[in-house]
Amino acid sequence: MPNSEAIRELVAACVGQVGAPVTALRKIVETHGHIEDEHVSIVADVFNLSLADVRGIVSFYADFRTSPRGRKHIRICQAEACQSVGSRALTKEMTEALGIALGETSEDHAVSLEGVYCLGLCASGPCAMVNERILVHATREELLT
Ligand code: FES
Repeated sequence: MPNSEAIRELVAACVGQVGAPVTALRKIVETHGHIEDEHVSIVADVFNLSLADVRGIVSFYADFRTSPRGRKHIRICQAEACQSVGSRALTKEMTEALGIALGETSEDHAVSLEGVYCLGLCASGPCAMVNERILVHATREELLT
C-alpha cells in the first residue's frame, strides 16, 4: 500500500490535468483501494481546495469508497426497474445472510456490499455485480457462491 509521500506524488502528478482533483482521487482508489481522511487532506493541499470541497467530490461519486472493499465486492442495483422485480428483497436477504448493511465490509474483509444505481440492464433485473462480473436475474444463491 502506498505511503503518504507516494500518495502526495501521485496527486501532484495530476496538477494541470482537466478535472485534476477527480483524476487524483480516482488514482488513489486504483492504487490504495479506498480514500482515507489523510488522502482528502493531501488532495485539498495540493489543489488548494478546502477539505469540504474534496469531501464533496468524494461523497458525490459512488466509486470513491472511504473504506476498504471486501475481497468479494457485491453490488446490487437499487434503481427503479430492478426494485420493481425484487432488488430490495434481494438486498434484505443479502444483508441478513452476510450480517452487514449496504456500504459495509465484513470485519475480515472477505465481503462488502454496496448499492448501485443502474447497470444498464434494466429489463433483466434484479441486476448485481460480483467484483467485475455482472449478474442478471440475480439470486441470493448466485451472490453467495
Ligand atoms: S435499474 Fe437496475 S440495471 Fe437499470
